[in-house]
Amino acid sequence: MSKLYLVGIGPGSGKYLTKEAVDVVNSSEIVIGSKRALNLFPDMGAEKIELNAQNMGEMLKLAVSKAAEGNMVALLSTGDPGFSGLLKSIQKIKGNLSVEVVPGISSIQLCAAELQIPWDEANIITMHGKGFSSRLLPLLSNGRPTIILPNTTIKETVNYLIEKGIDPKRASAVCENLSYENEKVVKTSLEELLGEKFGYMCVLVVY
Ligand SMILES: C[S@@+](CC[C@H](N)C(=O)[O-])C[C@H]1O[C@@H](n2cnc3c(N)ncnc32)[C@H](O)[C@@H]1O
Repeated sequence: MSKLYLVGIGPGSGKYLTKEAVDVVNSSEIVIGSKRALNLFPDMGAEKIELNAQNMGEMLKLAVSKAAEGNMVALLSTGDPGFSGLLKSIQKIKGNLSVEVVPGISSIQLCAAELQIPWDEANIITMHGKGFSSRLLPLLSNGRPTIILPNTTIKETVNYLIEKGIDPKRASAVCENLSYENEKVVKTSLEELLGEKFGYMCVLVVY
């Protein structure tokens, strides 16, 4: 029976790839993923198809149709496909095709490990691709740490929180480029975060 493999590749470094992810990718005939994701599998013999923000919709449809034709297709999703990953988009278009999800280590998990936050006791929320969620502000007053995948820059997100009345002195942390050589972890107040420079790959924690 035709099946599409949706493979979680972890936060970025090869050391956080699971053996199952490597085995599935190395057995696949077609592997679709971002350049960064494809580069994690130097030994694969499959046809590689690069996916990027511009061709995303088209490539997801291609993954479904190639798998439906009977090819073994692996679609690579950063972190875990089920958390702010490709699972939701694939569920919308897969029709009758069966899908197997190979879990990966999420940036949320690595962030929780780095900051030693027991994440069963944390609020976890993504704003990635959605904008500021009305769910966010109530979470910040329930006494638990909140782990956030931001939609915009850290600066914009922190400014939004302060504008909405969150104490600028509130303890917070940013984990940037987790698992990469340029990984950076900053633990400070919200207002102090505004003085730091961060790129796009960040997880924000508000304590
Ligand atoms: C489309 S979401 C994918 C999340 C992914 N499914 C997961 O489980 O981590 C992409 C966002 O995840 C976060 N992210 C992914 N990898 C990261 C890393 N290595 N370090 C920090 N944040 C990361 C960033 O906020 C990035 O904008």
